[in-house]
Amino acid sequence: MRKDLGPKPAVYPMPVLMVATYDENGTVDVMNAAWGMICDSDAISLSLTETHKTVKNLKKTKAFTVSLADVKNIEAADFFGIASGNTMADKFERSGMTATKSERVNAPIIEEFPITMECELAEIIETDNVYNIIGKIVNVSAHEEILDESGKIDIQKAGILIFDQFKAGYYVTGEKVGQAWQSGKELAK
Ligand SMILES: Cc1cc2nc3c(=O)[nH]c(=O)nc-3n(C[C@H](O)[C@H](O)[C@H](O)COP(=O)(O)O)c2cc1C
Repeated sequence: MRKDLGPKPAVYPMPVLMVATYDENGTVDVMNAAWGMICDSDAISLSLTETHKTVKNLKKTKAFTVSLADVKNIEAADFFGIASGNTMADKFERSGMTATKSERVNAPIIEEFPITMECELAEIIETDNVYNIIGKIVNVSAHEEILDESGKIDIQKAGILIFDQFKAGYYVTGEKVGQAWQSGKELAK
């Protein structure tokens, strides 16, 4: 038997994205965003509420960075989704984290997060509920210690958080159970 649950964004897992921006005075803000995904080989789409400080900032600076949060930084990552730069002037300072200006875009890189995409604002698509922010990814940087011998990101080493939007839990990457383009190969023969 199946039970209807009504219209819901029923996707799992969701990412735990850390969107970092500067305001007009160079103050760093970071927010937590689960509603985001790549939408081209060099583009990312984020669905953000218009009133967030982050949205105000990126409309002015035309840039942002998006990092993948890891379990080591779970407290700060969640805090970035609770507090707003609109009402807490020292939001980023309270996290105790370190920001360095990107050399490519007008946005901060948060050093403690292991994987970061540097993005130029490409487009904003307004819907009834959210702003879909499209960013052109101009660079990705990662902590050296999470790279394998061939220089690829080894997700098992990184402790990247994932989000369960049904019950609001954070999880870490689990056990590897298959290999894409291999696990279904028998049926394709
Ligand atoms: C787990 C989690 C996921 C979130 N995902 C989103 C999201 O996808 N889009 C959004 O607009 N807000 C999202 N939020 C809420 C913002 O992070 C939150 O409102 C934050 O205070 C905005 O910060 P800012 O005003 O400094 O930009 C999320 C919060 C949490 C805790």
